[in-house]
Amino acid sequence: MTDAAPMQTRFHAACAVAREAGFLAKRRFLDRSSFTIGFKGPQDFITEVDGEVERLIQSRLIEAFAGDGFIGEEGAGLVGSPGAPIWVVDPIDGTSNFARGAPHWCVSIACILGVSIEVGVIYDPMLDELFCARRGAGAWLNGAPMRTAETADLGKATIEVGWNMRSGLAAFMALLERVAATGAGVLRAGSGALGLAYVAAGRRDGYVENHINSWDCLAGNLLVTEAGGYVSDFLAGEGLRKGNPLIACAAGMKAALVKAADIKGLAL
Ligand code: IPD
Repeated sequence: MTDAAPMQTRFHAACAVAREAGFLAKRRFLDRSSFTIGFKGPQDFITEVDGEVERLIQSRLIEAFAGDGFIGEEGAGLVGSPGAPIWVVDPIDGTSNFARGAPHWCVSIACILGVSIEVGVIYDPMLDELFCARRGAGAWLNGAPMRTAETADLGKATIEVGWNMRSGLAAFMALLERVAATGAGVLRAGSGALGLAYVAAGRRDGYVENHINSWDCLAGNLLVTEAGGYVSDFLAGEGLRKGNPLIACAAGMKAALVKAADIKGLAL
């Protein structure tokens, strides 16, 4: 399935489904008594809403595009027809924020064909911001074209350093220290997908993480690329199934950030 028209249909479907999923998640978020909070592992939050939203997204997309594959953070998986597009979905990225009542989380939907990310959609229902991109056509925030920042000096940059328990404390602290030592402002806001959308929108200059999963970053990676930025080769090796390190940034940051971050195993 390589025809451009059907992929354009998928792009529009992904935007509509991200909004519908976002409305459902927002309704549950605003009624905190409607869900309980659990953990999949240390600091790895989960609520009933994650699975509920994932099931909604999968049913909508697979109903519309029978034969497509599906990979969801909460375990939904569907092997598609050989060569068919695969949807890669995080129903709620930033679950720790969602669980704790902090309004910084989003729905993330990507569609890939082989190792090419064709569609990337991230919806933040709390701010009603829809970030979307179609490979080769551009990236938009609520319909307005997005461009990454023009910052060329790390000393004036804001870089998000993603954190999770998967790659260990020492590796995180070392990465944080290397990036902060450049003079960049550093932060960690708890949603890799939204962090990447913010890089695409020029609100931040870069996002780095020692290990991130495909559902957290594929949609955001396309947003950054289509907004003119640089993204490391996330789908190299077993990135789709097992995750990889990641650097995504404004084009002017690339050389300095890649050198300073010095992330082990990063595929450029
Ligand atoms: C996590 C967030 C976090 C990132 C982690 C992800 P989740 O996803 O995106 O910002 O640093 O790598 O696992 O658990 O909120 O969907």
